[in-house]
Amino acid sequence: MFPKKPPMGFNTWNTFGENISDAMIRETADAMVEKGLLKAGYEYLVIDDCWSEKKRDPVTDRIVPDRVKFPEGMRVVSDYVHGKGLKFGMYSCAGVRTCANYPGSFDHEFLDAETFAAYGADFLKYDYCYKPDYADGTLLYRRICTALDNCGRDILLSACNWGADNVHDWIRSTGAGMYRSTGDISDSFVSFRDIFLSQLDNVKFSGPGCFNDIDMLTVGMRNRGNVASTGCSDLEYRTEFALWCMFGAPLMLGCDVRTIDDTTLKLVTNPYLLRINQDEACRPMFAAHKEWDGQRYVFARVLTNHEIALAFTNLSDNDGTLWFPFDAIGLPVSAKKGLQLTDAFTGEDAGVEKEYMRIPVKAHDCAVFIAKVVNL
Ligand code: GAL
Repeated sequence: MFPKKPPMGFNTWNTFGENISDAMIRETADAMVEKGLLKAGYEYLVIDDCWSEKKRDPVTDRIVPDRVKFPEGMRVVSDYVHGKGLKFGMYSCAGVRTCANYPGSFDHEFLDAETFAAYGADFLKYDYCYKPDYADGTLLYRRICTALDNCGRDILLSACNWGADNVHDWIRSTGAGMYRSTGDISDSFVSFRDIFLSQLDNVKFSGPGCFNDIDMLTVGMRNRGNVASTGCSDLEYRTEFALWCMFGAPLMLGCDVRTIDDTTLKLVTNPYLLRINQDEACRPMFAAHKEWDGQRYVFARVLTNHEIALAFTNLSDNDGTLWFPFDAIGLPVSAKKGLQLTDAFTGEDAGVEKEYMRIPVKAHDCAVFIAKVVNL
């Protein structure tokens, strides 16, 4: 499957871990529709690890859905999800066991692809634990992509090898539609900051067909659930979401969308930020300015419609002022033009600036604008 824009959806892992069930998936599907998340673009509902029995069926060798969590099997769950207009995602692993020690797909790739197709899956997250040392990771992702390409269903492969083996160099050639480039996120500012910064040099590898996945969002988790850590403030969550949008990363919600609070809902359905994330040109973001501490940046991203997104980002622990000259985005003083700004968080007109901008940004916060070049 060749995604043209960063995939968007929800994944069970961050909040639910092993506590998943038929009822929880159906309720999530209901919530994604009722709360307007599907309408905003969040179309995949992905079941992560821990969905199966611990052993394959001794007769058919197939993976079997957990009989307690999914008593009626997966097809009915998938039918329900599809009935809501959503797409259905499953999880497996390139190794012999999944990371939480359930059966993996190693040497069962074609059989499992067939099983996922029979479930009606549209998406498969594919992890990297318990890979035999002698097996080459590149080859294993090629295998599952070949298997999916020949299973009779269009299934997006979401590779998850945490950035190992220089994954960005070869993953696009396998047919994967997105690839995890980092270790696991937890619900803290430090976690999302470090993940984001670690991929600045790799933004250029991300684009239509295969997107760099910097992990599921923790936005709105409020330190509840499987990857709880220190939790984040509202200000930190909005920075996380804005950075994922600027990066052009897949947007997979990790909070419990059944109980999502209004602030979070408003943030993740913000049309300006989503426009930045989903811009069809998928041009890479770049640092138009970087402060000496490596923690304060002005990121820019050229959008279609002659627009440019700007994110004044303060990842340091101190309030500060961020500055950048418009020349850094290709607008020299000699052009005698300015930037007309729209505040991406509020949608408000933020006026016209010329030559440069200098604005205060609180510690861990960011200010995001969509700008258009105008005559002065
Ligand atoms: C990790 C992966 C997580 C989650 C977990 C499940 O390897 O990075 O996102 O899928 O396995 O056990």
